[in-house]
Amino acid sequence: MEVLCLGGTGAVGSLVVRGLLDRGASVRCMTRSEVGGREAGGVRYIRGDLEDPSSLGPAFEGVDRLHLLTPLHPDETGLGRAAVDAAVAAGVGRIVFHSIHNVEAAPHVPHFASKIAIFDEILSSGIPWVTIEPNHYFQNDLMLREPIMEMQLYPAPIGEVGLTRVDVRDIADATVNALLDDGHEGNRYPIVGPETLTGEDVAGTWGDALDGTIVYVGDDLDMWEDSVRDMLPGWMIDDLRAMSQHFLDHGLVASEEDYATMSHVLGHAPRLFRDFVDETIAAWR
Ligand SMILES: NC(=O)c1ccc[n+]([C@@H]2O[C@H](COP(=O)([O-])OP(=O)(O)OC[C@H]3O[C@@H](n4cnc5c(N)ncnc54)[C@H](OP(=O)(O)O)[C@@H]3O)[C@@H](O)[C@H]2O)c1
Repeated sequence: MEVLCLGGTGAVGSLVVRGLLDRGASVRCMTRSEVGGREAGGVRYIRGDLEDPSSLGPAFEGVDRLHLLTPLHPDETGLGRAAVDAAVAAGVGRIVFHSIHNVEAAPHVPHFASKIAIFDEILSSGIPWVTIEPNHYFQNDLMLREPIMEMQLYPAPIGEVGLTRVDVRDIADATVNALLDDGHEGNRYPIVGPETLTGEDVAGTWGDALDGTIVYVGDDLDMWEDSVRDMLPGWMIDDLRAMSQHFLDHGLVASEEDYATMSHVLGHAPRLFRDFVDETIAAWR
């Protein structure tokens, strides 16, 4: 079974690659980086860039299953379409597409709209598919070491309604099963954590784990925008701000049906946020 992992050098994809290797799959990873053309740790890295469709042939040739993860990008839809076209040309037998939980609830958010458009493209392609639809990652907090540890603030916009945040290791576990096992094609799988967390809950968990108080300040989107202005391009700030406003207004909350659906692909109970926080503090210290 030859599996091509797009996004295989990133946060989720690198764990998918490891999980596929553990299950004995033959794994190749497309990357724009220097490692393209090398073999390392049992993985073939092949140079390719979704912005340049003419570069995709070598990565896609002979592939049975495709992990399709698209990056945040001003033309994410175009990148996803290029991947689907290349999959059709190569005769790929299954696409597992990394989307977003309840994505249709916020089509005005640019990267949500891209996921919807790419999924339409997959449906039109006729290739058997599975979607993995994760909630907000626990691991987004790995970027918050300085505000949490040095300023005792939790600054990310989570809101009062809450997000059913999830560990990326659970997303990877579900993705590996969807890629390799039978019985998943045509299913849309929400991937969510065991509890819905508000901004106050998240800050409170960090505070408890640190034996102190972490103050939640995430609902102020102007402050958030000021804090990222020098780090992110304008289009990305606009996109993430629209998503954050959606979270503040509506949350991103799993239903009982979501848990029942997820249980068919995850294969174990979802990991707890508090465990992720404890591990992260130990690593930071
Ligand atoms: N963060 C969340 O809470 C969350 C929740 C639900 C869904 N999502 C979705 O998850 C995705 C991001 O996943 P992630 O955090 O694992 O990604 P990530 O760590 O940011 O990694 C991005 C990956 O995309 C690849 N890439 C970037 N530009 C590319 C291009 N032009 N052509 C080919 N590959 C390219 C990179 O490969 P190289 O650099 O090696 O080329 C890298 O492997 C997004 O679609 C996002 O909407 C995120």
